[in-house]
Amino acid sequence: MQALARPLARAAPKGLSRAALSTWSAVPAGPPDPILGVTEAFKADKDPRKINLGVGAYRDDNGKPYVLSAVKKAEQLLAESNPDKEYLPITGLADFTKAAAKLAYGADSVPLKENAIAVTQSISGTGALRIGGAFLARFYPHSKSIYLPLPTWGNHIPIFRDSGLEVKTYRYFDKKTVGLDFAGLKEDLKAIPEKSIVLFHACAHNPTGVDPTPEQWVEISNIVKEKGLFPFFDMAYQGFASGDTSRDAFAVRHFVSEGHQVALSQSFAKNMGLYGERVGAFSLVTKDPEEKARVDSQLKIVIRPMYSNPPLHGARIAGTILGKEELYKEWEGEVKGMADRIISMRHRLYENLVAQGTPGEWGHVKSQIGMFSFTGLTTPQTKELAEKAHIYMTADGRISMAGLNAHNIDYFSESVSKVVKGTL
Ligand SMILES: Cc1ncc(COP(=O)(O)O)c(C=O)c1O
Repeated sequence: MQALARPLARAAPKGLSRAALSTWSAVPAGPPDPILGVTEAFKADKDPRKINLGVGAYRDDNGKPYVLSAVKKAEQLLAESNPDKEYLPITGLADFTKAAAKLAYGADSVPLKENAIAVTQSISGTGALRIGGAFLARFYPHSKSIYLPLPTWGNHIPIFRDSGLEVKTYRYFDKKTVGLDFAGLKEDLKAIPEKSIVLFHACAHNPTGVDPTPEQWVEISNIVKEKGLFPFFDMAYQGFASGDTSRDAFAVRHFVSEGHQVALSQSFAKNMGLYGERVGAFSLVTKDPEEKARVDSQLKIVIRPMYSNPPLHGARIAGTILGKEELYKEWEGEVKGMADRIISMRHRLYENLVAQGTPGEWGHVKSQIGMFSFTGLTTPQTKELAEKAHIYMTADGRISMAGLNAHNIDYFSESVSKVVKGTL
């Protein structure tokens, strides 16, 4: 009791500094997040021409965040129905998770029809990956190693490490061609220990914007089968890559049709613009309904001590859109609209760079897929662009295409052209 009554900020006894007394004096400062650092620098810049291409969130043609009309309508319907705010079950809103699985696997999916897919709502894609990592660390019987493409989304590494898996890599990107290192990828998948876990970006690979073709996915699926590898798909951009949700689900659906028992992470952050609502799903293909029920029961045991049960509002929005034909159609049109706007920016950028006689080969800008493009710009060039042209991107030369629009694309292309020529 006496100890509690003492003032907290007490004077240090002679010979001891205040810092030495603190419980946390040995906590080292962590490195800043590389992407949030870009946003900080952008915010501090007062130049009206400034452009932020660091952040992975969609912007409209005026550079503003975009709330989908289907989302607004779903929210209106929800407000009118005056729903309660009770807790969801541990695995979330069943109407939403069922619809999410149908969207990913397709209405004709055999394991879906046979009620053999275990699915749970998650805190967006990140939470789905974390649940999946924790479940595999606890129950996957053959390996504790997960192989990630090199490079990959930066958060994959700590997510799986913190889940208790050992993180390794396989070759993915060829810097020379700014494209897929398909030979290296195949060689590495063939060389890794049998039955290891392998993570694939289902579409719109982040950060490179480089995806395997359908034919290449078929080859990858065959290697995965031969080696008995366990495929874990991260699908954070379904619909956002090509504008077509089925086309973007090709890899997942092909693997499932070939009999792979995949794990799948889904995010509705990008394709529904529900970033801050944290809507996602994690699923596992199992053998039959009995096995699914056992897996479901263990997913609950993994999730319960993490966050008890997931948030309600975003799942209701996504569930309403996926469940009502009219809203679903409108949403599909809006996803296509976002994807098309990004694709049109890719074409404008490519045409401008070529027209300005920019040294180098720029075809990759057009052929890459999804929100991001690995431009091939070097770290010193990205630094120069920030300092002299007020254009911000990550040091690896990755840009979010969604940050480009009709108002800034010409200024951006001109600046890139100049920095490559050394005349900025
Ligand atoms: C490849 C990839 N996976 C997963 C995510 C997870 O995002 P969220 O947790 O916002 O759904 C992202 C987000 O940028 C991503 O790019």
